[in-house]
Amino acid sequence: MRRFSIAPRRLIPLLLLLLLVVALATACTDPMSTIDPKSDNTRRVQDLYVLVFWAATIVFVGVMAAALIFSFMYRERPGRTAQQIHGNTRLEIVWTLIPVVILAVIAVPTFDTVIKTTGDAPEGALEVIATGHQWWFEFEYPELGVTTANEMHVPVGRAVNVKLRSVDVIHSFWVPQLTGKTDMVPGHDNRLWFTPEVEGEFRAQCAEFCGTSHANMRFRVFVRSQGDFEAWVANQKKDRVAPTADLAKQGEQVFLTGACVGCHVVRGTAAAARVGPELTHVGERTTIASALLDNTPENMARWLRNPPAAKPGSKMPNLNLTEDQIQKLVAYLESLK
Ligand code: CUA
Repeated sequence: MRRFSIAPRRLIPLLLLLLLVVALATACTDPMSTIDPKSDNTRRVQDLYVLVFWAATIVFVGVMAAALIFSFMYRERPGRTAQQIHGNTRLEIVWTLIPVVILAVIAVPTFDTVIKTTGDAPEGALEVIATGHQWWFEFEYPELGVTTANEMHVPVGRAVNVKLRSVDVIHSFWVPQLTGKTDMVPGHDNRLWFTPEVEGEFRAQCAEFCGTSHANMRFRVFVRSQGDFEAWVANQKKDRVAPTADLAKQGEQVFLTGACVGCHVVRGTAAAARVGPELTHVGERTTIASALLDNTPENMARWLRNPPAAKPGSKMPNLNLTEDQIQKLVAYLESLK
């Protein structure tokens, strides 16, 4: 009978490759990484994940080692015939009980994590209502009288209680480093909460297929110091800054006499329709088109020229604006800080 064997020399490169893959996977610093937690609840999930990972690793190594050792010890060789045997009550009880004990041990921290992360938000949490739209996110702060879109600002170290809604189809709210995915279901309010632990800018994404631009339905969470957050709120509460530059003034006229007022709010003007994103402070945002494009005059012009070309399926149609109207609108919108 032919025997197979792997020379130890050939095993070494394989092991090195495996180590490299593990190192790359764990050194991940992707802003969408779920294994780099920056809030209390994502850290709880990570702790549980690490526990289960190592328990599974010990089981895997133990089972593989036993399989290799026994196949070597009891292999067929000259003077010895390999044989299949059946039934050993004591062994079967042992290998049934070991997994039962492992699962029971894992169940304790699992239930603890589930209860802690899905229970009520701590007292004094900041209330935010997040609404999913095809294809953008609206954020309302009911206690503060602030409404914004696609960029959610929160203070560091304070719990955020997010009520999740949708006006059309099912979306899903996901900020990988701050909170797990929770669906935004039309007609059925959901909620989640988390306490951001460090300041920073966090990428986020709709995580439930919701149509043409699902992949382009992104948002950002800005975790700021308490002082910076209060300054942001104070500015958001103000009506729009009346334009002073000529081009921006003309832009406001184009805005108020054109189709824009049919869908958008700019507080302090006659524009008061809540169909598209609130634009009172759009110039202050870092991104436009649901965090798809950086907020630059070039990108704003590109968006106004043909929204569905920039974001497929966009509910804002091509308004066939002239280049002159676009330049005026860009000056106006960018002045709305
Ligand atoms: Cu909204 Cu996918």
